[in-house]
Amino acid sequence: MKFLILNGPNLDQIGTREQSVYGNENIHDYLKRLKQDYDVEVAFESSEATLVEIILSAQDIDGIVLNAGAYTHTSLAIADAIAAIQVPVVEVHLSNIYARAFYRKTSYIAEKCKGSISGFGLDVYRLALLSLEAISNR
Ligand code: DQA
Repeated sequence: MKFLILNGPNLDQIGTREQSVYGNENIHDYLKRLKQDYDVEVAFESSEATLVEIILSAQDIDGIVLNAGAYTHTSLAIADAIAAIQVPVVEVHLSNIYARAFYRKTSYIAEKCKGSISGFGLDVYRLALLSLEAISNR
């Protein structure tokens, strides 16, 4: 099985960015280890338009793990792109967005995703890959 882990703005800074919220483990080191267990491509993109293009061009893969970062709470364009494709998308957030400020509690993309995983730190990526494997075996 082949997967894509797609990250939005500022996620490449995890490890040094707001450590009290996101922890101090380096995201690149974590994902490098995850790649030893899964056939997964990893992308970091700050631009909303590029994220839309990547989602729309996703083909011949078994699922996308998407951490849209702040666009989660604003982007109808990303929600529409997810709705336009057949590939299942799992929304992830390192932090528990429901335990944070009110403007982070709303996800524009959740409704279009297969499911959401939020609040388990970097392990949300591994949990999302496990869930994509589980649904593909149904
Ligand atoms: C985040 C939560 C978002 O609200 C925030 O803008 C991020 C990271 C998370 O992984 O917890 O950039 O998606």
